[in-house]
Amino acid sequence: MQVKEQSNINLRSWSEDDLSLLERLLGDPIMTKYIGGPETPQKIKERLERYRKDSKVHMFVIVLQPENIGIGSIGFWEKDWLGEAIWESGWRILPEYQGKGIATKAISLIIERAQAEGKRRFMHAFPSIDNEASNIICKKTGFVLQKEVDFEYPPGKFMRSNDWRLDLFANETIKTANAIIAKKVG
Ligand SMILES: CC(C)(COP(=O)(O)OP(=O)(O)OC[C@H]1O[C@@H](n2cnc3c(N)ncnc32)[C@H](O)[C@@H]1OP(=O)(O)O)[C@@H](O)C(=O)NCCC(=O)NCCS
Repeated sequence: MQVKEQSNINLRSWSEDDLSLLERLLGDPIMTKYIGGPETPQKIKERLERYRKDSKVHMFVIVLQPENIGIGSIGFWEKDWLGEAIWESGWRILPEYQGKGIATKAISLIIERAQAEGKRRFMHAFPSIDNEASNIICKKTGFVLQKEVDFEYPPGKFMRSNDWRLDLFANETIKTANAIIAKKVG
């Protein structure tokens, strides 16, 4: 899919009308290859309700502008990790919009939002060790690799993941995020 040179993205809340977007992101075997496989239509409906109503979950639609189309999902939510209260983050971009720097920029936008929340110092991401794109973008956005872990996702299943950690309060984090946000995508 052609993304215009002057295209950009922003984030908005999920609405009832976004079910088909979430179905494409979570109901597809390729999209969910590194995150436990496709979810059932019922689970996806329940997830949309959580995204819309659970105040502990800060999930957003990634919107391509000026086209104004929803092309992905990103956000952060509360988690207890090794005895510490952290934000966990996660992201997904529709296949035809991948490889254009959109996830990288969207991560910088949620870093800004998590900083504004102010409640937790560290944001973590747990991509599968085989998920090259996600591991690359963690590094690019300033996350620091902690170690490999056996990460439970979905509940009851374990996958070998990298534990990446970002210090939301560090000056370097803010500088990196601002530099990425200043660039267009495409
Ligand atoms: C992971 C994902 C969100 C990346 O989105 P994206 O918008 O394509 O990412 P970006 O364009 O911002 O950048 C990704 C980086 O990884 C690289 N990359 C992208 N796809 C890749 C692949 N299949 N293999 C290796 N590297 C890849 C890109 O070249 C880019 O690096 P660069 O900036 O040095 O060129 C997307 O592939 C996706 O939705 N995957 C399925 C869901 C998923 O796995 N989510 C993550 C769970 S932790």
